[in-house]
Amino acid sequence: MSTGADLSSTGIAIWDRFAAPHEVQALRRCAIAHESRGDFAAARVGSLGKEQRRDSIRGDFTCWLREPLLPCERVLLERLEDLRLQFNREMFLALVELELHYAKYPPGAVYARHVDQPRGSAQRQLSFVLYLNPDWQPSDGGALRIYGAGDQYVDVEPLGGRLACFLTPGREHEVLPARRERYSISGWFRGRAPTLHGINH
Ligand code: OGA
Ligand code: MN
Repeated sequence: MSTGADLSSTGIAIWDRFAAPHEVQALRRCAIAHESRGDFAAARVGSLGKEQRRDSIRGDFTCWLREPLLPCERVLLERLEDLRLQFNREMFLALVELELHYAKYPPGAVYARHVDQPRGSAQRQLSFVLYLNPDWQPSDGGALRIYGAGDQYVDVEPLGGRLACFLTPGREHEVLPARRERYSISGWFRGRAPTLHGINH
């Protein structure tokens, strides 16, 4: 598995077929089940206490994964736990926690260029997205655009089963509009909260 190596050399790793087709179908069905129960909410932007819905900045709907987990969600969590331990071993990261949410982007919805460290999320160290879109076509759009230095970027199609990972700090990225509904699970591994005196001194 070269994910660890890609992450340490470029800060980005793409892992196709991280989830098998039947797992993708099951997780997509779970997302739709949550949706029909009203568990999804319009994502909001802005600082703590002043969040607002701004479709032009962020047009997705999200649902946090929490107990009681559905069976396929528990399987995913176990795999991600293995990944956490692997990253800690191979990359000397000290990832301790995981946050995870489903996201649904209706056709045309975007998430404008951003970094995944809004105020209060400074401990996010590793971002990843698992895509739940079987039969996605290039003409469907909806790429994850990950920026590098200057004007460089790479576009990652949201193909079912694909896991896109990147080191969170400072990494700008955006979600381009799609022609179809686009489902995913976004997650972040977090490091330890910084201590009062800092840990890098
Ligand atoms: C996010 C995000 C990217 C994607 O949820 O913060 O940037 O491709 N998602 O869904
Ligand atoms: Mn993001």
